[in-house]
Amino acid sequence: MSKNILIVAGDGIGPEVMGEVKRVIGWYNDNRKFDAVVSHELVGGCCYDAHGVAVTDETIEKAKAADAVFLGAVGGPKWDKVPYEARPEAGLLRLRKDLELFANLRPALCFAALADASSLKREIVEGLDIMIVRELTGGVYFGEPKEITDLGNGERRAVDTQVYTTSEIRRIAAVAFDLARKRGNRVTSVEKRNVMKSGVLWHEEVVKLHDEQFSDVKLDNMLADNCGMQLAKNPRQFDVIVTDNLFGDMLSDVAAMLTGSLGMLPSASLGAKDANGKTKSLYEPVHGSAPDIAGTGAANPIASILSFAMALRYTFDRGACADLLEKAVDKVLADGYRTADIMQAGKTRIGTKEMGDQILKALGELNA
Ligand code: IPM
Ligand code: MG
Repeated sequence: MSKNILIVAGDGIGPEVMGEVKRVIGWYNDNRKFDAVVSHELVGGCCYDAHGVAVTDETIEKAKAADAVFLGAVGGPKWDKVPYEARPEAGLLRLRKDLELFANLRPALCFAALADASSLKREIVEGLDIMIVRELTGGVYFGEPKEITDLGNGERRAVDTQVYTTSEIRRIAAVAFDLARKRGNRVTSVEKRNVMKSGVLWHEEVVKLHDEQFSDVKLDNMLADNCGMQLAKNPRQFDVIVTDNLFGDMLSDVAAMLTGSLGMLPSASLGAKDANGKTKSLYEPVHGSAPDIAGTGAANPIASILSFAMALRYTFDRGACADLLEKAVDKVLADGYRTADIMQAGKTRIGTKEMGDQILKALGELNA
């Protein structure tokens, strides 16, 4: 049976980078019997323009039925004034929530060729390989109440709610421990138990699960502010970091920047296994819609292409195909090709489409 992939390219540079992903999928269809059928839907500002909402019910249903969803990026200044419920980000958040994609995997990997593009010294980031496991469907992103109330006399009051339950914490921690076993076997659990009750519970539940089922994995617990500092100081001390939705959002941007460019980093958002052993999944680059360069053909498609590599690995169980794609990206970088965001002196500057061309060419060579 054909694989069914839904692409929601979204806004800004989303359509440009997803165009290259589509070509890579085509390459795997032609050369590796991947047999995927691709369809497209709108999510984000483009969907608001067409339908007045950030995502339609039909698209949510289509996403649920797909083997994997690929998202480019959502948002941009054009939609600054749309109602809060219909803002572009609401489409992405609803996709995550309705598909129950609670586990967000954000690898921060420093490509050898790009170690000098980092804002940190080469010796601090070279060989960096961290996996941030961010809880994605709970916490302050979705907790209720979430509102602004008018208190009168020009005074207003805003509240967001940070909320976690035992089972939410245990299922994300289990993902982190499982992943750690396939990597460096170390997990750092990150919260603010010195200030937040949700941090106290997080800490207790992670330690309990560890002692019950994962005592072979080395577990450290770290306060979130310290984790931010440690990431800047000595990022290679980490293997897998597991944390809540909001801290994960922040720490993954920090970790991403260590690697030299947000334009390089993929992510996978996964749900629980269903009765047939299938997992819903959404793949997206960590970077945003970059409205300042949208339409110029300058965007870096590598994060999106590497997100497809993650899909090959986590959704389609085609580890060798994923390895090949990652090697192709490595080769193109080693050959000196760079988009503007990762440009270095003496290298060859190319645009989105040429980067796609080079990666396809490298795939062909490595496949020969
Ligand atoms: C991310 C983004 C999103 C988030 C935005 C676009 C809602 O920053 O995926 O990290 O905050 O989760
Ligand atoms: Mg973010």
